[in-house]
Amino acid sequence: MPTLETTVDGLRLPNPFVIASGPPGTNGNVIGKAFDEGWGAVVCKTISLEAEKVVNVQPRYARLRGRKSDEIIGWENIELISDRSFEVWAEELKAVKDKYPERVLIASIMEEYRQEAWVEIVQRCEELGVDALELNFSCPHGLPERKMGSAMGEDPAILEEVASWVNAVATVPVWAKLTPNVTHIEDPARAAFRAGCEGVSAINTIRSVLGVNLDTLRPEPTVEGYTTVGGYSSRAVMPIALRMVLEIGQVIRDEFAGRSLSGIGGIETGSDAAQFLLLGADTVQVCTGVMKYGYRLVQSMCEDLLVFMEKHGFETLSDFKGHSVQYFTTHAELVQRQAEARAEVGKRGIQDDAQWRGDDFVDQSDALARG
Ligand SMILES: Cc1cc2nc3c(=O)[nH]c(=O)nc-3n(C[C@H](O)[C@H](O)[C@H](O)COP(=O)(O)O)c2cc1C
Repeated sequence: MPTLETTVDGLRLPNPFVIASGPPGTNGNVIGKAFDEGWGAVVCKTISLEAEKVVNVQPRYARLRGRKSDEIIGWENIELISDRSFEVWAEELKAVKDKYPERVLIASIMEEYRQEAWVEIVQRCEELGVDALELNFSCPHGLPERKMGSAMGEDPAILEEVASWVNAVATVPVWAKLTPNVTHIEDPARAAFRAGCEGVSAINTIRSVLGVNLDTLRPEPTVEGYTTVGGYSSRAVMPIALRMVLEIGQVIRDEFAGRSLSGIGGIETGSDAAQFLLLGADTVQVCTGVMKYGYRLVQSMCEDLLVFMEKHGFETLSDFKGHSVQYFTTHAELVQRQAEARAEVGKRGIQDDAQWRGDDFVDQSDALARG
């Protein structure tokens, strides 16, 4: 019987399914619900020391549905980090840790570009007993107006400096959460590892405009008739997230062996998760999927992943972590491989009807067939 248990950066998880920072980890009550339903770990909604500066609007989500079915395939949000005070969070995180001492609780944190602020929030979070820290260098809307979030994550030099401040004082594992709104995701990943982060999480949301209402001519989500550019998540982003996980995985293998990678973006099933693991992720995180389907989703995800592992005879996650990376190559090599394969088929195959032979008739037919 395969097992989903895994140990990442010394953190022992019953399964690789982690609640991503966002509404599904927005207070102690829902974090407890996530543990009760069986999530492997929880990253709380991003917290900061000055919550009074965080003012949210409504509506703050807009959804893209398929043309032929009602399924939600894309989700844009303009939600900020948590607007609840650090003191309230401190009580709740401590209570959660007291109630679930064996479960992994990760604090997502964000501050302005001031060393004292980052040092203070790291130390205060560690006093609460959190198991790890995730540095939010990636929220693409609202916070960048205060030079926070993706304003830091888009600049590898600033990311490295801030992550170094954190790593100089942190005693628990530190993950840097990266923004996909960059040309080469390898650059911020390297900066995070150079700064001493144990792992990176990717991706946060992709800068987006969900659409324009053709009756009102106003873009969505409309707040008092106006909007702001938001962050895109859900199923539609998975191919982009997979590509970035592949690229970060290559950086880890080539330059930072042993560092960890948490894949995020559009994951809703165990099969989705298997693909992130096959491309090099250690864990996977889910945000919008929980908003669409609820906390119980983790149960079908675990079952689905176990079925995949049984089918292939994999006993542990490490049996297949990164397995499919070997099948990526350059376009030039694809051309070469195809030329070789065609030459091989040509030897057996039919170039013109005079070449049909009675002895290998079945093989010759087979070489011309698909399926
Ligand atoms: C409504 C909403 C709020 C979010 N808030 C945060 C946040 O506070 N901190 C953070 O690091 N990521 C936040 N995210 C990003 C998610 O954690 C995740 O990186 C992204 O949505 C992609 O994953 P998904 O497709 O599973 O949602 C938020 C996403 C959504 C949809």
